[in-house]
Amino acid sequence: MKRIFTKEIAQRVGETVKLSGWVNTRRDHGKIIFIDLRDKTGLAQVVFNSESDGTVYKEAETLRPEYVIEIIGRVEKRPEKMKNPKITTGGVEVKAEKIKIFSQAETLPFSIEGTGYDINEETRLAYRYLDLRRARLQRVLRMRQEVIYFMRTYLKEREFTEVETPILTKSTPEGARDFLVPARLQPGKFYALPQSPQQYKQLLMVAGLERYFQIARCLRDEDPRADRQAEHTQLDIEMSFVDQAEILELIEDLYTKIVETLFPEKKIKTKPFPRLTYQEAMEKYKSDKPDLRNNKDNPDELAFCFVTDFPLFEWHEENKRWGAMHHPFTKPQTEEIATIKKNPEKILSYQHDFVLNGWEIGGGSIRITDLEMLTAVFEVLGHAPEETKEKFKNYFDAFKYGVPPHGGIAPGIDRFLSIALKEPNIREVIAFPKTGDNRGLMMGTPAPVSEAQLKELHIKLDIDKDNGEKK
Ligand code: AMO
Repeated sequence: MKRIFTKEIAQRVGETVKLSGWVNTRRDHGKIIFIDLRDKTGLAQVVFNSESDGTVYKEAETLRPEYVIEIIGRVEKRPEKMKNPKITTGGVEVKAEKIKIFSQAETLPFSIEGTGYDINEETRLAYRYLDLRRARLQRVLRMRQEVIYFMRTYLKEREFTEVETPILTKSTPEGARDFLVPARLQPGKFYALPQSPQQYKQLLMVAGLERYFQIARCLRDEDPRADRQAEHTQLDIEMSFVDQAEILELIEDLYTKIVETLFPEKKIKTKPFPRLTYQEAMEKYKSDKPDLRNNKDNPDELAFCFVTDFPLFEWHEENKRWGAMHHPFTKPQTEEIATIKKNPEKILSYQHDFVLNGWEIGGGSIRITDLEMLTAVFEVLGHAPEETKEKFKNYFDAFKYGVPPHGGIAPGIDRFLSIALKEPNIREVIAFPKTGDNRGLMMGTPAPVSEAQLKELHIKLDIDKDNGEKK
């Protein structure tokens, strides 16, 4: 017999069915035992009666919460006063005829009933495979899939091609610290994990893809916060032959449809999404990611906006140098190279940020395709022209062979989801997030490696590899 999901039993009254899952609860009423059997679709009430089925009843007596079992039994209507209108299977129950115990379970280290917010987070993360059994997190993972599936379908229907780009790559100037991976076959050299697929997606425009997207994992060695993880996921987009307005229109339409289809209880505050210049945002709201909600206590209000016309550069007082406000590939709003070098503080750019309820949920820009301009921008950032040509040889080579004007954006999926699902931080919408000091508590990452592995990579540590102390 083929196993069915619990959600199907309401339509199977009078039939014998096979159900599998976990014992959610067991209630023993003397001669009769009730089990709530849980599977990914919900709960089913299973009844064991000592008078009608002696051996099955005996086995049911041994059941404890979280045992993994299989039940074969007949679906029957519940007596009127036993009906539970709160759950979809609340009008029926299964009279157990056979039971199989796949796995026993020890008492869980914490309850998986309820939201779990009150449980120590480190404990939840150490046992994430148990934490994920709770209904709230099951829903989060399903909604995450719904959102990503929606994005994929929407973009595919509009001539976008999804392309995977390498994880072992080279440092890109996204502004954070790189995670490095030693290259065994090229001793002394390192790959960098991508902070984003920025250069690959631009080179895909040179390759003639015209419209690219990727659900891209991005890795940045930053200190995690409520809205920041070492690994996050972007909906990475790049388009040829577009202007800034077209990129913003695409994102506005996509996110409006996502909200209307998947989060119908939400209200988008203003449509079209307000577009503010950086200067307006700073003057009016003292923030480049203003929270435009009417009522900040109302979690169902979504106030999207776009911020544009950012300065191209920002001054870093601590090391007395200019940095790129977005990244160095962002196109300035002037063609005059001499002005860029002379008055970098005056130059605005074609950067656009996507903001929701005071969080930056996306960023992008129109890109520089003129190599002289790129060299000048890097010069302001403190890199001699020769160094820039060497470091970005791939750009300089590729752009010689016919480069279309292009631009893009990368909305952060984790941040949007945590706002849409009313979660307090992005860890709640990631299956296996890291702690505030970048540890993966369930797997025990990062972890020491053997002397032999280090030797093969020609790496000598000046600290003890097991306790991190100076040798
Ligand atoms: P940017 O660095 O602005 O742009 O990143 C785009 C968006 O990704 C999200 N994000 C993060 N989310 C969680 N944890 C993090 N550590 C984290 N860092 C960023 C934010 C952010 O707005 N390549 C460019 C995009 C482009 O120019 O097209 C880029 O990565 O929501």
